[in-house]
Amino acid sequence: MTDLAGVFKLHDFEELARETLSSSAFAYYSGGAGDEITLQDNISAFRRRRLRPRVMVDVSMIDPSSSFLGTPLPIPVGLGPTAQHRFAHPEGEVATSRAAKEAGVMMCVSTIANRSLEDVAAVGDAPRWFQLYIHRDRGISKAMVERAVAAGYRAIVITADLPYPGYRERELRHPVVYEGEAAFGNFAGIVDSEGAELLQLLDEVVNTTVTWDDVEWVRELSGLPVLIKGILTGEDAALAVEHGAAGVVVSNHGGRQLDRVSASVDVLEEVVQEVSGRCEVYLDGGVRRGTDVAIALALGAQGVFIGRPYLFALAAAGEAGILRALELLSAEFVNALGLLGATHVRQLKRTHVV
Ligand code: GLV
Repeated sequence: MTDLAGVFKLHDFEELARETLSSSAFAYYSGGAGDEITLQDNISAFRRRRLRPRVMVDVSMIDPSSSFLGTPLPIPVGLGPTAQHRFAHPEGEVATSRAAKEAGVMMCVSTIANRSLEDVAAVGDAPRWFQLYIHRDRGISKAMVERAVAAGYRAIVITADLPYPGYRERELRHPVVYEGEAAFGNFAGIVDSEGAELLQLLDEVVNTTVTWDDVEWVRELSGLPVLIKGILTGEDAALAVEHGAAGVVVSNHGGRQLDRVSASVDVLEEVVQEVSGRCEVYLDGGVRRGTDVAIALALGAQGVFIGRPYLFALAAAGEAGILRALELLSAEFVNALGLLGATHVRQLKRTHVV
């Protein structure tokens, strides 16, 4: 059993997870596309930035709370949509959902979760968004969106950067092959995963024909706010706003899609400036420290999402691992706020970062 008291940073979970995950599962969770330049740069780009603290401010009371699309949350950090949690835990996304509920954080649930969106929601009422890959058979996606609405999900997050999977060398070298249990809980009776490889199945349920018109379609169908995830340019952020998006997620899919695109934090400001308050801006990619959260918020993000760190934490120590990861990130963020001279997330300003 992992001694969580000896874990003091999110990075620590990766080595612990490596010991428990199969080589193919570890390759799937940890790998990126191409030479993994973007994967590494997501982290380096945060590390390159420096903070400008303001001193002589009363920081005896610090409030790290925030809200995502009007939902109050204890910290501006959510669990981003990642797939296949059963590699890390026998209960898969249900275990993650219990941890998210206990911590009170936003969980964005993947279309290609092992468990169905209903199983995840059955854990109880909690802030949850549903990530959508629009299937080439739009009837399948229509039914899935309707199920997400019925199960109480509060927003639909359309992933825009995966018309097909990126060139992922680690996954090609160590393919996940399914035997026994179904890969995609939301596609019961639709996708037969027996004997199939994960990358091949992913390619099967995504779609090369998704366009901006689909945003309106999902908005009307769901009646929910729609966010677009995978935005890396001001031009696309402007189009997302024009098509009625309530938010965008600045993301390069954890460096898993097109290698050599910019690190998320390097394009955050371009997007923030372009949308100019017309929708909320979120970021994922490279968030490992409370100072990273502070940097993203100072640059204009409403909130951030983590991915790999919570998967590794789940693999290392189950729900308790995710709770520890969130506790560490929250404590580090509170510490950073106070040492920056900010008592609330709204006090984080552009001038705090160079
Ligand atoms: C799925 O979204 C993946 O990146 O594998």
